[in-house]
Amino acid sequence: MIQLPQPAAVQGDMDWFVRARFGMFIHWGLYAAAARHEWVKHHEEITDEGYEPYFRYFDPDLFDPGLWARKAREAGMKYVVLTAKHHEGFCLWDSAYTDYKVTNTPCGKDLLRETVDAFRAEGLRIGFYYSLIDWHHPDFTIDPLHPMRNHPEASAWNRARDMGRYREYMKNQVRELLNNYGDIDILWFDFSYPEKELHGRKGKGREDWDSQGLLALARELRPGIIVDNRLDLPPEMADIHTPEQYQPAAWMTVNGTPVYWEACQTFSGSWGYHRDETSWKSPEQLIRMLINTVSCGGNLLMNVGPTARGNLDDRALAALDAYAAWMSLHSRSIYGCTQSPYEPPVDCRYTQNGDRLYVHVFAWPFRHLHLRGLEGRVAYAQLLHDASEICVCRDTCDGRHDWKQPGTLTLELPVQKPCVTVPVIEMFLK
Ligand code: GLC
Repeated sequence: MIQLPQPAAVQGDMDWFVRARFGMFIHWGLYAAAARHEWVKHHEEITDEGYEPYFRYFDPDLFDPGLWARKAREAGMKYVVLTAKHHEGFCLWDSAYTDYKVTNTPCGKDLLRETVDAFRAEGLRIGFYYSLIDWHHPDFTIDPLHPMRNHPEASAWNRARDMGRYREYMKNQVRELLNNYGDIDILWFDFSYPEKELHGRKGKGREDWDSQGLLALARELRPGIIVDNRLDLPPEMADIHTPEQYQPAAWMTVNGTPVYWEACQTFSGSWGYHRDETSWKSPEQLIRMLINTVSCGGNLLMNVGPTARGNLDDRALAALDAYAAWMSLHSRSIYGCTQSPYEPPVDCRYTQNGDRLYVHVFAWPFRHLHLRGLEGRVAYAQLLHDASEICVCRDTCDGRHDWKQPGTLTLELPVQKPCVTVPVIEMFLK
């Protein structure tokens, strides 16, 4: 048995969050029209004029948030985090502080409100992603990540830009987002890069954003709101830590202290809709990522990037359906579960919820599964997907089972792997 990590107390309401375990990230903005990465404006150093067609023609006529919300619920997701504004600066809601918003496109609707309403109706909790970076705002100074970073006039333009005004803008928008859309459970700021430097210009961090002020505002407006760790503040001020594009292999720690954590991942390589990207993960990989996350005490926030017509393409729908098929039979080994103090056998992952211990079998062995430290501790075992009994192997005939170790419990498995992507055995501990 290992000692289970215990994260230090934080200000956000973590109770519902650690029970939920699985959420949907939605990256949606004008970049969906470019369809070649949400950083396209940065990558291709596109000017505001060059980016303007995506605004002028933005008309998501297939937008059906009820369908997104149903797909998320069926996939087993318990909350959603939606990009209210991404780095491009475009706002998905009817903000009073900018014209660069969805209600001024041919779309004409407050897409944030409709999405929030639809997801709430399906019983999901709501979070907003808000980009600290803004590549459209006229007061946001040109820095190492800005699309105009290599422009010869950049320094001259910066003289007329006033980050003080931009800080006010962010606070006004955070007020709108947290006051006008009902209960918001998560505020996901993204991101800080004080260490970057280019052409003598520095990246941005806590002073540039007034991170303290933003955090205080969020907590004042919504006590209990969960705030992420990308404001460039001391790590203990964040409620959750947010590894992306890699999976922690153990409970995440920061400076040696265990933390609440949420991995955010994509179905393919990009967050925004990317037409030509081909590195889509297989159903098995996706399901294992969820299991791996919970087995290390974390949450998984899995991303979809809707198209500029407002639909989820077939690849995204298939990925959600893979989760739905598995979760409809196995969510008990995910919700409310966390790391187990027991050490799993090779090719397996444990999750545990009180006296229920779940073994996820990644590679189905021949007939026997040996569980160290569990001898005499299991009252009953069954396959989770069909509640069919899994017998404890009582045959200890000397010599025949030379794998028999003291303290080990051996389960008798069917020879054939059950017909689910990752089989789970549920054990009731004594
Ligand atoms: C990165 C990227 C961004 C994405 C985010 C999600 O920081 O800048 O495009 O929104 O990760 O975690």
